[in-house]
Amino acid sequence: MNQEQWTAVDRYIGETVVPSDAALDAAIEASAKAELPAIAVTPNQGKLLQIFARLVHARRVLEIGTLGGYSTIWLARALPEDGRVISLELNPKHAEVARSSIERAGLSKKVEIRIGRALDTLPKLAAEAQKKDPFDLIFIDADKASIPEYFTWSLKLSRPGSLIIVDNVVRKGAIVDAGSSDEDVQGVRRLNDMLATEKRVTATTIQTVGSKGYDGFTLALVNSLT
Ligand code: SAH
Ligand code: DHB
Ligand code: MG
Repeated sequence: MNQEQWTAVDRYIGETVVPSDAALDAAIEASAKAELPAIAVTPNQGKLLQIFARLVHARRVLEIGTLGGYSTIWLARALPEDGRVISLELNPKHAEVARSSIERAGLSKKVEIRIGRALDTLPKLAAEAQKKDPFDLIFIDADKASIPEYFTWSLKLSRPGSLIIVDNVVRKGAIVDAGSSDEDVQGVRRLNDMLATEKRVTATTIQTVGSKGYDGFTLALVNSLT
């Protein structure tokens, strides 16, 4: 089994189970044209996010790490008319590309992008949350070193039944190396140490292969918050 084969299978899935459409294709093209890194979720992963959002009947979604808005579009399409994705992005250029792709997809009314370091934006969101509903689904996909902090904030912004999804938690298997000097790996390992004893969620991690290589995601379903 190799990368070539994983890529061929992802392509085949895209031709059958997960057909693309003009707005999704345009979002990827706009990201490439603006020279954003090609690290968006794959189409089949995007659709998985959409399925999860529907399963939890999501009305409010929080995304940490917008990039060009590709995953944002998949998530926003899962929402009812009055639903909303709030997506946090550090890089104003990424946010601009995303806004334009989200507008092209006809989803501007459902998506709000907040520019800044997520660790600065999250406390403000938590302050607003006194007045607003908690998030039904949270997708953590920004810098990996801060994953544990994002997870802690996510719990504060959740309700029992909320689903927290963390991308890129296997990193070609590098996460088993306790002595890794890679701060991304250490971020994931700190999350896993938290999950080992965290009673407020029911969590699992799934390894994945595909056109983006060998990686994985963690799912944490919020039980109760006490
Ligand atoms: N969710 C996107 C991919 C996100 S890539 C998709 O699948 O389509 C990660 C994004 O996180 C990048 O755009 C990067 O600029 C952003 N990012 C990195 N550090 C951040 C931080 N501290 N706060 C907010 N966003 C950050
Ligand atoms: C990287 C980030 C991602 O969110 C991803 O899905 C893949 C790679 C990265 O920073 O390399
Ligand atoms: Mg990712």
